[in-house]
Amino acid sequence: MSPMKVGLLGLGVVGGGTWKVLTQNAEEIARRAGRRIEVAAVAVRDIEKARRLVGDQVSVTTDGMDIVRNPDIDIVVELIGGDTLAHDLVMEAIKQGKHVVTANKALLARHGNEIFAAAHEKGVMVVFEAAVAGGIPIVKAIREGLTANRIQWLAGIINGTTNFILSEMRSRGLPFNAVLSEAQRLGYAETDPTFDIEGIDAAHKLTLLASLAFGIPVQFNKAHVEGISSLAQEDIAHAERLGYRIKLLGITRRRADGIELRVHPTLVPMECLLANVEGAMNAVLVQGDAVGPTLYYGQGAGELPTASAVIADLVDVTRLQAADPDHRVPHLAFQPDAMDDIAILPI
Ligand code: HSE
Repeated sequence: MSPMKVGLLGLGVVGGGTWKVLTQNAEEIARRAGRRIEVAAVAVRDIEKARRLVGDQVSVTTDGMDIVRNPDIDIVVELIGGDTLAHDLVMEAIKQGKHVVTANKALLARHGNEIFAAAHEKGVMVVFEAAVAGGIPIVKAIREGLTANRIQWLAGIINGTTNFILSEMRSRGLPFNAVLSEAQRLGYAETDPTFDIEGIDAAHKLTLLASLAFGIPVQFNKAHVEGISSLAQEDIAHAERLGYRIKLLGITRRRADGIELRVHPTLVPMECLLANVEGAMNAVLVQGDAVGPTLYYGQGAGELPTASAVIADLVDVTRLQAADPDHRVPHLAFQPDAMDDIAILPI
């Protein structure tokens, strides 16, 4: 069978990682997908730099539209971030009948309803395991593993940068700004670190998890969002003396009158597992009515963990397409026709 042809938009940290893992683990991935998955084209800012990584066999362009309009490409992988050019490219890819894999939580949190509706209409898949909690397969866990459950609530540490800052402030007594610089140096932080420290990145991810868990539209603009920038060393020390750790949690809960959707620093009792998630690690606790509590832990950012999630989606799409060439697999946890305006409760 001919390989599944991938067009990669962006060859930065996650794009480079995706290339490396697809190349290194090509045999295993082909066996699991039932077909080889091959990067046929990449869109990048710096052609020379890209050539050093991918060599001469892959088509390299600076214009992402070349890829989304290329009839030989089966799947577009969007890893450029932001919600302007990425939005145009993803919408065009859908229009061209291509499946889309994206790690772009900001794009989906802000434009997800439009994007998912367009994909549904066209009969293509838009999948986003890498957009939430990096390498942790939390999207698949909610969408597939917990599919029998009525999810009651979930709470998670879904921003590695802020968890790293809080951990270092507590354990090493370092000031906020010094630790933020370290997080930037280690590549955890967003291009605009305000997104991390003000809770916006966590709210993007929580919005997507809530949509999956409760089958509701993406409603980022209704989330309550507080970050960690006003926390001082003394707050962390006081909490510790009282038996708590301060964690930036994303929390969403089903209530009789609507859905809670909130991100804020939270006092977590020290004996709870979430209180002991340190450094840039992520963890999500999900409460289902049948299964009870389940906990997912792992690296929420970085080159190879995020690549692991991108490739899981590539394999998923390859398998689903083989099972249903018309792409009518009911793939989204939330359906456009179920997008009535569910109340997001004020906090
Ligand atoms: N800035 C994000 C974080 C990267 O710190 O978690 C992964 O989404």
